[in-house]
Amino acid sequence: MLDYTRAASRLDHVSPSGLRAFFDLGAQLAAKGVDVISLGIGDLDLPLPRIIEKAMIAAIKQGRIRYTSNKGIPELRLAIAERYKETFGLKYAWDEEVLVTVGALEGLFDIMLGLLNPGDRVLIQEPTFGYFKYQALLAGAEVEQIPLSPRFDLDIDRFAEALNQRKTRMIVINSPCNPTGSIASRSKIIELVELARDHDCLVVSDEAYEFLRYDRKPHTCAAEACRDNVIVVSSFSKAFVMTGLRLGYVLAPASIMKPIAQLHQYNVACAAAPIQEAAAVALRDPKAMNAFIKRNRAILNKRRKTAIEHFSKIPGLSLPYKPLGAFYLFPSCKGTGMNGYDFATKVLNEAGVILIPGDNFGKSFSDYVRISYSSAPPNRLLEAASRIKHLTDN
Ligand SMILES: Cc1ncc(COP(=O)(O)O)c(C=O)c1O
Repeated sequence: MLDYTRAASRLDHVSPSGLRAFFDLGAQLAAKGVDVISLGIGDLDLPLPRIIEKAMIAAIKQGRIRYTSNKGIPELRLAIAERYKETFGLKYAWDEEVLVTVGALEGLFDIMLGLLNPGDRVLIQEPTFGYFKYQALLAGAEVEQIPLSPRFDLDIDRFAEALNQRKTRMIVINSPCNPTGSIASRSKIIELVELARDHDCLVVSDEAYEFLRYDRKPHTCAAEACRDNVIVVSSFSKAFVMTGLRLGYVLAPASIMKPIAQLHQYNVACAAAPIQEAAAVALRDPKAMNAFIKRNRAILNKRRKTAIEHFSKIPGLSLPYKPLGAFYLFPSCKGTGMNGYDFATKVLNEAGVILIPGDNFGKSFSDYVRISYSSAPPNRLLEAASRIKHLTDN
């Protein structure tokens, strides 16, 4: 007999998102009238840049709503290529080496499915964004997680040890990092890319939080170390507050890009035309966009400082480093006597604050929680910290 409900076996090792459960619980509490503070989601409560809104609406009104070239409209690919040349001195051919995707996530999916064979080994930094692992598993790869150093920098010795053990097809890194807010040091990024190259191994560098850095911390694009074995993935989501508009891109040497672009073609055909157009208009106006990013960065920096100051005072939480990027804190909650899941559950049920348990970002981090300050102004962060402190004090 046919089993109509059977899922494909490629999903056997892919768990449903652990983040969702907390959002759903939070929504249930809010429906009962609880004043829930969400420090869970990695999304922003800030407005879309006016220039993007205007360009998008104009494109729709003027009927530019058709399919575009699979790889993205030339204006946008050109603008992206120009930005990398100006900012990092990196030359990417706009027509063959730049791919516009439906968010960074679609780009990552195309990379995994386009470049990995079943059984290929993939090393992924830990902790990090859970999608990397599950997308690689969907491609049939064998995933090994390589812990970051105690202060959340890349640990080159551990990567070297793993590379020496067995043939590895791909390494995935992410800086600025979700969930730690750490920024990998330039020297470590360069060392890792060179080490990978010596082992004929690709490096996928997720730089979606490139613009969200504080205290003048610079950004290193991993391809600065070597273009040949590096695939850069980035996004308009965070810097341009376009999370729901779904726009990202991939940069890679032409021969590596070919299978990625082919996957993209059969996956989504293209990103939405008006959104591509609006992003191209924005990139063409660096003055306006830099001002926008600067303003948002100042808002987020204020929240970051408030969050560090007040969450550090909570008994049982420890933050042994200062997050300098993205919009997260990733403290250990071991001192509370609870693991991250139990702590986040208690905090949600008894303080009405959504946090995300650390094991969503790597199984070695079950004693941690992620705190997102991306959609809570300082007064709400203060309120959340004081509710949690009240819980842990008692
Ligand atoms: C490291 C990282 N990469 C990619 C994404 C998703 O980016 P996009 O919205 O462009 O798909 C996220 C979202 O939280 C992220 O944390």
